[in-house]
Amino acid sequence: MTIDSHAHLEMEAFGPDRDAVVGRAREAGLEAIITVGTTLADCERAVELAGRYLMVYAAVGIHPHEVKEIGNGTYDALRLLARRDKVVALGEIGLDFFYDLAPRELQIQRFREQLDMAQELDLPVIIHDRDAHAETLGILRPRRGRLRGVLHCFSGDAAMARECLDMGYYLSVAGPVTYRTADALREVVRGIPTERLLVETDAPYLAPQPYRGKRNEPAYVVETVRRVGEIKGLSAAEMGALTAANARRLFGLNGARAEGQEGIR
Ligand code: NI
Repeated sequence: MTIDSHAHLEMEAFGPDRDAVVGRAREAGLEAIITVGTTLADCERAVELAGRYLMVYAAVGIHPHEVKEIGNGTYDALRLLARRDKVVALGEIGLDFFYDLAPRELQIQRFREQLDMAQELDLPVIIHDRDAHAETLGILRPRRGRLRGVLHCFSGDAAMARECLDMGYYLSVAGPVTYRTADALREVVRGIPTERLLVETDAPYLAPQPYRGKRNEPAYVVETVRRVGEIKGLSAAEMGALTAANARRLFGLNGARAEGQEGIR
């Protein structure tokens, strides 16, 4: 049993066979999948999917690549979506200075605004940080104690990991931890306390070995769980159970909020 804490089931890559993808995740022993919106339209689809599949939960937010689409009414629409059933986080939000698809100043502004929204709505955040470690930390530091959440597909060094852990964040590990050349990442993972680790696929992206280069899907998270377990000296079953418990705790899954609403639909 484990939980894929970050996938993009709403994306077109899953259009032809989404039911089968969710079915394979269940067969692989997953207990839940959090599907994470990146545009307003995809956030709406993510919330729909959470309504359609018992094991799927949604997060809503505007990805740093997409912040140019934010206009009048975008945040009002996000707030409404954030209050829907089985929406468990605000994300994915953050900074991407690798692709730089939006101006950096705008990314920073939109990241701050969406963090404010998470505080206002009392939701955990799912943070995307690529090549913007110093800026991300600089934005999170003054909000210490007022936000909770996860740095998804964590790519910082051990010092950054320590600071994020110190601020109370969880760190999520994705498929790259299985890649031959990822020794530095594995070393960072070795130092993360197991009670703060999450696992994810980021599907359809970042497929773990032996699927690297193919479309990723939530069932493949078991490969990442196994590799992280090896690093931590734990079995895949133990690692899966620990990361599932962590995800449940952070996102409030299987609690009154999530379960009470299943019956309504
Ligand atoms: Ni993602």
